[in-house]
Amino acid sequence: MSHFLEKETDFSKMVDARLSRRNFLFASAAVGAGAFLALNPVAKAVAATMDSTLLNFTAIPTSTSDSIVVPKGYSVSNLMSWGDPIFNNALAFNANGQQDSAAQAMQFGDNTDGMSIFPLSKDRAILAVNNEYTNYEYLFAHQGKAMTADDVKKAQAAVGITIVEISKQNGQWTMDKNGKANRRITANTEMLVTGPASGHDLLKTKADPTGKKVLGTFNNCANGETPWGTYLTCEENFNGFFGAEVDVPLTADDKRYGIKAEQSKYQWHNFDQRFDLAKNPNEPNRHGWVVEIDPNDPTSTPLKRTALGRFKHENAALVVNDDGHVVVYLGDDERGEHLYKFVTKNKYQEGNHSANRNLLEEGTLYVAKFAMQADKLEGDGQWLELTYGKNGLTKENGFNSQAEVMIFARRAATQVGATTMDRPEWVAVHPDKKHVFCTLTNNKNRGVKAGQDVAGPNPRAENHYGQIVRWAPTNHNHNSATFKWDLYLIAGNPTVHKDNLYAGSDNINKDNMFNSPDGIGFDKAGRLWIQTDGNYSNEGDFAGQGNNQMLCGDPKTGEVRRFLTGPVGCEITGLTFSEDQKTMFVGVQHPSGHFPHGSTNKPRSTIVMISKDDGGVIGS
Ligand code: FEO
Ligand code: CA
Ligand code: CA
Ligand code: CA
Repeated sequence: MSHFLEKETDFSKMVDARLSRRNFLFASAAVGAGAFLALNPVAKAVAATMDSTLLNFTAIPTSTSDSIVVPKGYSVSNLMSWGDPIFNNALAFNANGQQDSAAQAMQFGDNTDGMSIFPLSKDRAILAVNNEYTNYEYLFAHQGKAMTADDVKKAQAAVGITIVEISKQNGQWTMDKNGKANRRITANTEMLVTGPASGHDLLKTKADPTGKKVLGTFNNCANGETPWGTYLTCEENFNGFFGAEVDVPLTADDKRYGIKAEQSKYQWHNFDQRFDLAKNPNEPNRHGWVVEIDPNDPTSTPLKRTALGRFKHENAALVVNDDGHVVVYLGDDERGEHLYKFVTKNKYQEGNHSANRNLLEEGTLYVAKFAMQADKLEGDGQWLELTYGKNGLTKENGFNSQAEVMIFARRAATQVGATTMDRPEWVAVHPDKKHVFCTLTNNKNRGVKAGQDVAGPNPRAENHYGQIVRWAPTNHNHNSATFKWDLYLIAGNPTVHKDNLYAGSDNINKDNMFNSPDGIGFDKAGRLWIQTDGNYSNEGDFAGQGNNQMLCGDPKTGEVRRFLTGPVGCEITGLTFSEDQKTMFVGVQHPSGHFPHGSTNKPRSTIVMISKDDGGVIGS
C-alpha cells in the first residue's frame, strides 16, 4: 500500500468519528425510499436492486477496452472528430499534423467539450461545441518541439468553438458542410466586453486602449444555452496559455488565478506578444469570463459577459425563475474555490428576442455559503451578494469598484465568507426547477490546505472520488437568498473501503461505482446524466472502476446505473439531445489509444451519437 493510501486511511478514520453514512440524503418527500437512510448491508442491498421507473435500460459493467460500450438495444455512431472539415472548401483531415493554421481554422477544433443543440426544424439543428484545448503530440508532426509562428496560429485555431448545422436523413444525423450557420470561433476572433468590467483600466492593453475589444476565447470548457437562443461558452483554465521569458512581478490575484511567469506548455507567448506577461500584463484579465454567442448569425460578435464574474468557469446552468428573472448557476473548477449564481436585473420576456439579448449584461452575482452541522450531510445555505460597497467589498478591503469585484471575483468571494468547495464542475437544474445539482469532482487538498475544512458538502479529506451536492431554493425561488442542501451521491469504492465515506453513499455499490463526476445534465424526463473525468488506472483506490464513463441517475430514488463506458484515456464530457430526445450527442475528449478509427490510427476527440434501436427516447 502506498504512502498516499495509508494517509488516506487515517483521514477516513477521522471523518468516521464525526459523520456516518446514515445521514446522507435528507428524508424529504422528494427523496422517498427510506431504504437509503439506514447504514447496514440490508439497506445497501435494497438500494442496489431498486427498480427505478425512470431508468429503463440494463446497466453495463465497467470497461478497460479502447471502444465505446452502451447497453443492449442501443447503437453508437460518430458525428465528427477533431480535424473534420466543416466547410465545403475546407481541406480533409491530415493525420500527420502537416496542415497549417488556415486549414485548421476551417475544421472541427480539438478536444470537444460542452455543447448545445438549437433546433431549426424537426430534422435540422445548429450544434455549438466547445473545443477546450489542443494536444501538440497530435496537432504537429514535430509534436510541439519546433514551434513556428504559424504553428501558434494553428493551435489558436484548434481551440474555441465550432458551430455547425446538422441534418437528419434516413433516421441519422450528419454534419452539413453547407450549413449557413457553420462557423469557427478561435483564440483570434474579435469579441466585445460588456458589463461592469468593460473598459476598465485593468482590461486595457497596448493593442486595445479601450479595454472593450478582446481577441478570442480559449480553454472553453462547458457551456449553457439561453431560452432566447444564444450559446454560452465558459472560459476555464485560461491561465495556462500565458507565459514569460523574464521574471515578471505578479500580484496575489494573478497567482490565485494560476498565472505564472514562466515558459508555458503551449508556447504562444514566444510568437504572439499578447500572451507574453512581460509585454501585456493585463491580457489575462480579459479572459476567465462567460461568453454569449448568437449561433444563428455567423457574423455576430461574441460578447464577454463580465457581470457573471471572472474565475475558471466550468458551465452556466440557466433557469427562468417564476418571477421572470433569469438565474445562472456557475461553478469555479479549482480546489477550494467557490459556487456562484447570477440573477439578471431585468426580466425575461418570452418571444421578445431583442429585449432578452442583453439580459446577461446587468445583474447581481452571489456566492454560496453552506451552513455545516456536525454529523450531518445536509443543511441550510445562503447566497452572499458580491456587490461593491456591500458585505465588506469596500475600499478599506481593497475593492475600488464593481469592475474590480467582478475581475477578482475569487477574492471577493473570500472576503464575504464563501465556502471553499471540492472543485465545482457542472451545475444542472432539474426540469421541475425544484432542485439544482452540482458535481464536486475531487479535491486532494481538502483537509490538507488551510481553510479547506472537512465538513458540510465537502465531507472527506483528500477527496479523490467526488460527490454531487444538491440544493432546493427556498420556496422554489431561485432568487431567494437561502436554500437547503444535501448530497445526491458520494462517489467511492465499496470494494476497497468499508463502512466509511470513502466507500461512497448507499446508492453507490460495486456495480455502479465510479470516480470524479464532472459533466451533468438533465433530459426532459428528469433523468440525471453523469459523466466522469477521473482516474482510469483501474487499480488501488480505483480498482474495478475502469475507463471514464457516463451514468444515469434517478433523482427521486437515488438509483444510479452505468450507461456508457469510454475508450482508453478519454474523458467523457459534453452532452445534448435532439429535440425528440431520441439521439443523444456525447463528447469523447482526449482519447489516448486509437479511438475512433482503431488499428494504428492516432486518437481523435470525437462527438458520438447514441440512439435506441427501437427508435425510442434515450433511457426510456
Ligand atoms: Fe474543463 Fe473543469 O473541466
Ligand atoms: Ca469538466
Ligand atoms: Ca474535470
Ligand atoms: Ca477536459
